[in-house]
Amino acid sequence: MMRKWLLSLLLAIPAFVSADDYLLSTPHTSMLFEGTKGQSLHFCYYGDRVAPDEAGQVRAAGLYTYADAYPVFGYGYNPEPALQVVLPDGQLALQLVLDSVERRAVDGGELLAFTLRDTKFPVCVKLNYKAYQDLDVIEMWTEVSHEMKKPVVLQQCASGYLPLRGTEAWLSHLYGNWGAESFLQQEPLTTGMKVIKNRDGVRNSHTRHAEVMVSLDGKPDERSGRVVGAALCWGGNYNLRISKESGGNYDFLAGIDNLGADWHLERGEVFRTPELAVTFSPQGLGQVSRNFHRWARATHLAHGDKLRDILLNSWEGVYLAVDEGKMKSMIKDIADLGGELFVMDDGWFGRKYKRDRDNAALGDWEVDTAKLPGGLKALTAEAAANGVKFGIWIEPEMANTHSELFEAHPDWIVCPEGREPLPGRGGTQLLLDLSNPDVQDFVFGVVDRLKTACPDLAYIKWDANMSLTSYGSSYLPADRQSHLYTAYHEGLLNVLRRIRAKYPDLVMQACASGGGRANYGILPYFDEFWVSDNTDALQRVYMQWGASYFFPAMSMASHVSASPNHQTGRRIPLKFRFAVAMSARLGMELQPSAMSEKERAYSRRAIADYKTIRPVVQMGDLYRLVSPYDDKGVSSLMYVAPDGREAAFFAYKLQHFLSQEWPAFRMDGLDPAAHYRLTELGLPEGARPVGVSGKVFSGRFLMNEGISLPLSGEYASCVLRLERVD
Ligand code: GLA
Repeated sequence: MMRKWLLSLLLAIPAFVSADDYLLSTPHTSMLFEGTKGQSLHFCYYGDRVAPDEAGQVRAAGLYTYADAYPVFGYGYNPEPALQVVLPDGQLALQLVLDSVERRAVDGGELLAFTLRDTKFPVCVKLNYKAYQDLDVIEMWTEVSHEMKKPVVLQQCASGYLPLRGTEAWLSHLYGNWGAESFLQQEPLTTGMKVIKNRDGVRNSHTRHAEVMVSLDGKPDERSGRVVGAALCWGGNYNLRISKESGGNYDFLAGIDNLGADWHLERGEVFRTPELAVTFSPQGLGQVSRNFHRWARATHLAHGDKLRDILLNSWEGVYLAVDEGKMKSMIKDIADLGGELFVMDDGWFGRKYKRDRDNAALGDWEVDTAKLPGGLKALTAEAAANGVKFGIWIEPEMANTHSELFEAHPDWIVCPEGREPLPGRGGTQLLLDLSNPDVQDFVFGVVDRLKTACPDLAYIKWDANMSLTSYGSSYLPADRQSHLYTAYHEGLLNVLRRIRAKYPDLVMQACASGGGRANYGILPYFDEFWVSDNTDALQRVYMQWGASYFFPAMSMASHVSASPNHQTGRRIPLKFRFAVAMSARLGMELQPSAMSEKERAYSRRAIADYKTIRPVVQMGDLYRLVSPYDDKGVSSLMYVAPDGREAAFFAYKLQHFLSQEWPAFRMDGLDPAAHYRLTELGLPEGARPVGVSGKVFSGRFLMNEGISLPLSGEYASCVLRLERVD
């Protein structure tokens, strides 16, 4: 009893480095603040770890920033604000000073929280920083509340602010579009402000991403240079601002986008922003990616400690022409090829309105018994008989105008009062208003009813093919319409929390017209995301490379599809298609009955080979070796198991020219003193492996000199398994 009391007392005492330094550390990073009660709190440093007794060094070396820890609008030097409010009497100015500091142990680490108060009005801002004890990530978020009779309007409320020290910083971020998501862009940060926004309302990663890296020492490099990574954990509209002012420092702010999103904060209500997760390494982009991957698997991805099943998805195989016979034969096919899960995509539901085209039946999540007379039971039984699991596609946030749901609940649609909703896909798709608790119950019920009727349902592909285009809610009161963008996502998170509480083992994929939901706001509830509707293996090399900056391989659904590819028309050999999909979460998305016996035999071998490297691909550390963006005609990456005993290496030929040259592939992440046997995987029957296959090399040699690969022929590829032999 006594010891517990003493411990909580010790934890409650701020860990003073000097009178008012507050240091927060992870195994390899530190963040330092300085503040005195009644005065501004300052953010001093974020970078390489410093021991508590070394914090003074940061100041002595002149390496500190002296910015307000959370800049606010209106009273003082007017920096780019993290917080901007309208107070009940119309005033805009705030002046925040430090009131109290709390430091305590929390799950997985330590929380340092500063309570700031306005000097005139009862407005309170709590800045939270959570450091993990064994992950190099700090999560920050902000809570705002007040004690005034009338609401305070939050016009801008960033999750966090990070001042960065550097003079030649470069930004790495992802951009794209439908079918071309997660392309990498790297650019110098020049004077002025770079703003990265999303305003789709529902999906947020087709065109830009809520994650960035900033290389502080010049051009980005995989293995060297100080790099800060930041990921805003939010599935809705966002706004990342990075500005370089004179004086050499960079200011970084990230939060929910403020367009049409004023939040009216009631007395006593706490507005809690999404988390902003930040990480740092002096060892280049690669280590920052590995930090994100480890953190995601441990904290921000459902079942991050479990290997993913190899699946067949029906979409590109049959599109909407689902029927019992085809589904049963696909189940048998994936079992025969060595897969573990079959997923029936769109087309299985609708009674009054048929899902024969993409313009009807969303919302009516009842089996179309004309297509599937035996219902889901017949399919789960077929799956069980073949030793595979069964999964299904839903799009539960949506309705079609041609649906029984819309007929019964026209008021559940997102739409401004008195206007016609602007429909999306098929000319009839509408968005349900998740700010409405009745709609939340309905969406939860979609999953709940499916799981109740079909307890064997192991996997759900949760799609979202619509933006928030007709802004308005018949649930929210007239003076709270501006809550919709935020309330929609709070409502979605509420539903997802309920699903996870009741069905903790259910595997779920976040799909949103392909890669529209690759973000850490929703990934804690999902096992993976669909990287793109584009399954062209060549384009996937570029997209998966970009996505790998922030997301671990186990979260990236990557499917082998037909050739010619349905999106690009490109013809790519099956070996290359497998080699690309095997570098992430392998699946197939084609009609196996259309494959030749030779192709089926190859698929069986490749799937069996993938199983041997699945743990290292899905749980290992990623090392990017040759970037497809460097235009060398080849690309290469590898994964190394946490215990260093195994690795998996991938190389792809992206261009095909006569007398082409490319560099030796220098590996990374291995133990220099260890020896590794290399074995080529994914070889067609009877094919000769590459020369290095079967040979043993030291880790040092593989990393310093590398290996040369023939890569002859168009779309050549090479997958190697490395096993430590000593
Ligand atoms: C979206 C998804 C696809 C597929 C279709 C079904 O486009 O991204 O993978 O599920 O919907 O309609």
